[in-house]
Amino acid sequence: MLEIPALRAALLTWYDAQARDLAWRTGPTAGKSGARSDPYRVWLSEVMLQQTTVPHATPYFLSFTQRWPTVSDLAAAEDGDLMAAWAGLGYYARARNLLACARAVASEHGGVFPDTEEGLRALPGVGAYTAAAVAAIAFDREANVVDGNVERVMARLFAVETPVPDAKPELKALAGDLVTAERPGDWAQALMDLARRSAGLGTALRPLPYLGLVRGAEERRAGDLSAQDEKGRPATPLWGRLCADPRRRRGPGPPSAQRPAGGMLGLPTSDWRGAPWSDDEAGAAAPVAASWRDFGSVEHVFTHFSLTLRVFAAQGDGDFVWTLRQGLGALPSVFLKAARAGLERLV
Ligand code: ADE
Repeated sequence: MLEIPALRAALLTWYDAQARDLAWRTGPTAGKSGARSDPYRVWLSEVMLQQTTVPHATPYFLSFTQRWPTVSDLAAAEDGDLMAAWAGLGYYARARNLLACARAVASEHGGVFPDTEEGLRALPGVGAYTAAAVAAIAFDREANVVDGNVERVMARLFAVETPVPDAKPELKALAGDLVTAERPGDWAQALMDLARRSAGLGTALRPLPYLGLVRGAEERRAGDLSAQDEKGRPATPLWGRLCADPRRRRGPGPPSAQRPAGGMLGLPTSDWRGAPWSDDEAGAAAPVAASWRDFGSVEHVFTHFSLTLRVFAAQGDGDFVWTLRQGLGALPSVFLKAARAGLERLV
């Protein structure tokens, strides 16, 4: 079962150490001393980020805030000037809404953003996501901030297989279960950082291995993620090593999967054509010394034969990143079955 307090602690610890330095962000250290981001800057960045990446949005954010340092300055902008400054960010409707919102804040709220989700939601052009994001990040309100990125993280963490849009209410509810009064603004931003950093990485079957996936893969790619638990020890072994062992094989012919010489992804196995191993032999052939556990057998039917693999799994230190970088979905189905059989019960 996913341990929500452990997950929250792990992600916040990771955020404390690895939060991205963003132009509109008050980092976790300053945040813990009570510093908050200017709601105008949070709102502006969120609107910009809804349709583009952080690197693309940042120069626009910097030039907007230099030219219009406060929401009242923006409210006083000429429509044409704002539209010209927005060029390259797409969706002019958003720019028009931006101006309408700034003018409402300036004229109806004395230039001060409302500090609740409901108050923010009532502003022109401010939708549920933006209201929640500004409430959480600028005012540290317990708001459930869910965009497509966070939905993807929830789907992976909780192994939700229903596709969006049908899964949206479920994903939102799952995200809501993770929000607490403890540092809600940092929590929202930690999830956003995780979501953006893990975009494109593989799907995961289990919650904690997923966190391991993000850490392990990123650690090797960018060298910038701390693989440490909340006590500063090396990361708990989040990802299992797997080795599979043929127990029974029927039908003629060798298996078709070529690993690793043929370049096909696979899990370490004994020779499929050999006789089934004894437990001792299986233990001796394990790719690393570990407390291997036996997860029973999976059967896979190839065109010309069927193969029964006995699956052993152990907690490892996450160095099987090949499965993770590419996503388990990249495994041939025989190995996917074996991976599921081992990983789903390992943690
Ligand atoms: N994506 C959307 N809002 C974000 C934020 N505030 N920080 C990082 N990524 C984001």
